[in-house]
Amino acid sequence: NKGKYEHYMQKEIHEQPESLTTTMRGRLIRGGSCKAKSVLLGGLKDHLRTIRRSRRIVFIGCGTSYNAALAARPILEELSGIPVTMEIASDLVDRQGPIYREDTIVFVSQSGETADTLQALEYALENGALCVGITNTVGSAIARHTHCGVHINAGCEIGVASTKAYTSQIVVMAILALAIGDDTISSQARREAIIDGLFDLPNKVKEVLKLDEEMKDLAQLLIAEQSLLVFGRGYNYATALEGALKVKEVSLMHSEGILAGEMKHGPLALVDETLPIVVIATRDACFSKQQSVIQQLHARKGRLIVMCSKGDAASVTVGGSCRVVEVPQVEDCLQPVINIVPLQLLAYHLTVLRGYNVDQPRNLAKSVTTQ
Ligand code: UD1
Ligand code: F6R
Repeated sequence: NKGKYEHYMQKEIHEQPESLTTTMRGRLIRGGSCKAKSVLLGGLKDHLRTIRRSRRIVFIGCGTSYNAALAARPILEELSGIPVTMEIASDLVDRQGPIYREDTIVFVSQSGETADTLQALEYALENGALCVGITNTVGSAIARHTHCGVHINAGCEIGVASTKAYTSQIVVMAILALAIGDDTISSQARREAIIDGLFDLPNKVKEVLKLDEEMKDLAQLLIAEQSLLVFGRGYNYATALEGALKVKEVSLMHSEGILAGEMKHGPLALVDETLPIVVIATRDACFSKQQSVIQQLHARKGRLIVMCSKGDAASVTVGGSCRVVEVPQVEDCLQPVINIVPLQLLAYHLTVLRGYNVDQPRNLAKSVTTQ
C-alpha cells in the first residue's frame, strides 16, 4: 500500500523518520542520575565477549548493504580498536580470501537471501569464524545460518532501490560499535554524544526531507546529463558510492562515487565546465580537505553542487560560485544517514522526470538469489 505516495521508493524515502525510530526501539538506554547512557542488542549480548576478543572484524555485503557497512566502518574502528576490513561478497568468494577462526564476520543484507552473500557465509562458516547477521528479514537464510545477529526492523522494503534499509543498517552498525566498544572514562563523552545523536536522528531526518522540492529542481536541471560524479571522503565516502548507485540504478544516468582523496590520481582529468559534480563537504575532521578539493575543482571550472552543513554556504563557495545544498548537522559518524537523503530524493526525481520505472528499474531484481 503506497498510501499518499506515487511510488514505493518515494514512500520508503519519506518514511525514514519512522523506520529509524522502529530500528532503535528498545535498543537505546537513556541513562539516569547514576546510570550511563548505553545500548542493548538482544541478539548479540551473549556474543559480545567473543567479538571483542576477535583479531579483526570483516564486513561482507553487496551493493547498498556493502555501502552501509562502509559508512559504519570508521566508528566501529574508533570505538572497538579492532581492525575492520571490507569485502564485497562475490570478490571474497572469487579469491577464496583468508578467513580465520579468530575473525568476526558481519554479513549485511536487507533481504537476507542474496546468493553471493550466502555463499560467502557458507565459506566463513567452513573456516570456523564467528558469523554475525544484520538483516531486515526475520527467518531469512542469513538470519537462520548466522550464529547471532541483529534484525534492523526497518519494515518491508518494496522498491528495488534500497533506501530506508540503508539508513537503518547504518544505525544498527553504529549501535553495534557502541555495544562492542568498551565503556571507558575516556570514551564516555563521545559515546553519550552518539547516543544523544541517535535519539534525535529521526527529527533531523524529518528536517532534511524538507529538501524534497529543492532536489526536484536540481533534478530538472540535471535531467539531460550523461553523467554525474559524487565526491566524498571519511564518513561520507560511503555516501558518495551510495548516492551514485541510487542515481545510476533508477534514473539510468551514469554516475560514479569517488573518494575525494583519489581525485588527483585520475578522476581530475574528467573535470570540465560541462560535467556536474556533487561534492559532500559537511562538517567533520575532513572539512578543510574538502574545502581544498572544492577550490581545485573550481580552478578547473567544475560544475559543482556542494552539500554542506547548515550555515556553511559561504565557507564552501570560496573561489567560485556553485549550487549549495544545506543539510542539518549531526554527530559526525551519523552524518551519512542525513547526507544520503537528498541524494535519494535526487535519484527519485531524476527517474520520474526522465520517465523511467522507479520501483522496478530495468534488468534488476529486489533480491538477487542467483549468481
Ligand atoms: C527480540 C525479538 C523482538 C522482541 C525483542 C524483545 C524476534 C525476531 N525479535 O528482538 O520481536 O521485541 O526480542 O526483547 O523475535 N539473529 C541471527 N542472525 C541475524 C539476525 C538475528 O542469528 O542475521 C538472531 C539474534 O542473535 C537473536 C534473534 O535472531 O537471537 C533475534 O534477533 P533480534 O530481532 O535482532 O533480537 P532483539 O532485538 O532482541
Ligand atoms: C541497491 C540495491 C542492491 C542491493 C544488493 C544487496 O539499491 O538494492 O544493490 O543492496 O543487491 O541486497 P541485500 O541487501 O538484500 O543483500
